[in-house]
Amino acid sequence: MTSLATERLTLRPLVPDDAEAYAAMRFHPKVEKWLPPAEGDPVEAALRSIGRFTAAWRERGHAPWGVFLDGRLIGHGGLNYVPEFGETEVLWALHPDAWGRGYATEVARAALAYGFETLGLDLIFAITLSANLASQAVMRRLGLTYRRRVAYKGFKDIVWFDMDRQTWRER
Ligand SMILES: CC(C)(COP(=O)(O)OP(=O)(O)OC[C@H]1O[C@@H](n2cnc3c(N)ncnc32)[C@H](O)[C@@H]1OP(=O)(O)O)[C@@H](O)C(=O)NCCC(=O)NCCS
Repeated sequence: MTSLATERLTLRPLVPDDAEAYAAMRFHPKVEKWLPPAEGDPVEAALRSIGRFTAAWRERGHAPWGVFLDGRLIGHGGLNYVPEFGETEVLWALHPDAWGRGYATEVARAALAYGFETLGLDLIFAITLSANLASQAVMRRLGLTYRRRVAYKGFKDIVWFDMDRQTWRER
């Protein structure tokens, strides 16, 4: 498992003790609106996600990190392998108190560097609902390119952006 420091943030794998703070971010109504809802108790759902991330760190050497500002959990972000597409996505979510300061872009840049330079991935994609303009603004700031609409987990109105390693090197 890998931890990183960016200019302003600490990125580290989530552990079960983070579950309450993670649930408060991930299942905040303004965040959950764009992501799958909690099934059952939010803290239990957070613990299940943390368990999945821990397994992914072991199996693939990457998973979304917890994002910490001055020791406080403000979000998650990082790389996530998606078997439905056979590719790795970069994802992000922040507690609304942390929006508007460039933190998601800072996390995602570190994730792209880790994916292309450390893991040697050829392609990294990002998807979101077409109505999620804040998330698409992060994609554009990173230099990802819009390619197409895709269906995913029952949602049809998903936009797909991506970047390949060559483009990352030349950016
Ligand atoms: C998607 C999400 C993470 C975007 O958050 P965000 O704060 O808009 O994105 P960033 O952290 O990159 O910040 C960019 C904003 O900070 C501003 N900003 C302030 N200081 C900055 C800095 N030092 N560097 C960069 N941007 C800065 C930018 O101008 C921009 O604001 P604007 O959109 O009003 O122009 C957030 O809306 C969220 O968590 N949504 C719910 C979950 C979600 O939708 N996740 C994605 C699902 S696919």
